[in-house]
Amino acid sequence: MTETDLEQVLSWRNHPEVRRYMYTTHEIGIEEHRKWFSGIKHDPAVDPMIYENHGLARGFVNITRTRCPEVADWGFYLAPDAPKGTGRSLGNQALTYVFLELGLHKLCGQALGFNERSISFHRALGFSEEGRLRDQHFDGHEFHDVFCFGLLKQEWKTKDQESNND
Ligand SMILES: CC(C)(COP(=O)(O)OP(=O)(O)OC[C@H]1O[C@@H](n2cnc3c(N)ncnc32)[C@H](O)[C@@H]1OP(=O)(O)O)[C@@H](O)C(=O)NCCC(=O)NCCS
Repeated sequence: MTETDLEQVLSWRNHPEVRRYMYTTHEIGIEEHRKWFSGIKHDPAVDPMIYENHGLARGFVNITRTRCPEVADWGFYLAPDAPKGTGRSLGNQALTYVFLELGLHKLCGQALGFNERSISFHRALGFSEEGRLRDQHFDGHEFHDVFCFGLLKQEWKTKDQESNND
């Protein structure tokens, strides 16, 4: 992601069908968004990326290594008009990047308990549920559980590896 992606990423992040699944759900202004990007753009522990499909920007993925250099958290969202199936290819590319290019040992994800798509998405990509933090998040009206997922490099299988094993 570069400065030129800022407006597009903000429009995705502010879409009601994206922000309702985030920890902060208010509509983000351009100044707040720029400040966020300025804070991370030179941080070697953070990789904000644009997912492209056939030359079109279709989503955002953020990889953050804060615990130790071998273990990261991820966050992601698609362009709200991205066609069905885009999430799966974003996920596969992100995992390839994380495990083959960054050489990480583990990727972790968190999803709010009502985000059934994300919970099922993590499972579909091979993540294990490692914990459920009960009533961990308050959205201003009610509490929500947080589902914690983890995927180790040795558990991750690329499509090629899977078909070679068939
Ligand atoms: C989560 C997200 C990336 C999934 O992308 P998508 O394009 O809908 O996903 P795909 O169509 O590629 O489906 C991949 C998997 O996601 C899950 N999934 C997708 N749509 C689903 C739905 N309506 N209900 C339940 N699971 C669903 C399924 O496990 C699916 O695998 P399957 O097709 O083998 O059943 C996308 O919906 C998104 O950006 N959501 C808003 C932001 C968000 O929640 N980010 C994550 C915060 S933790």
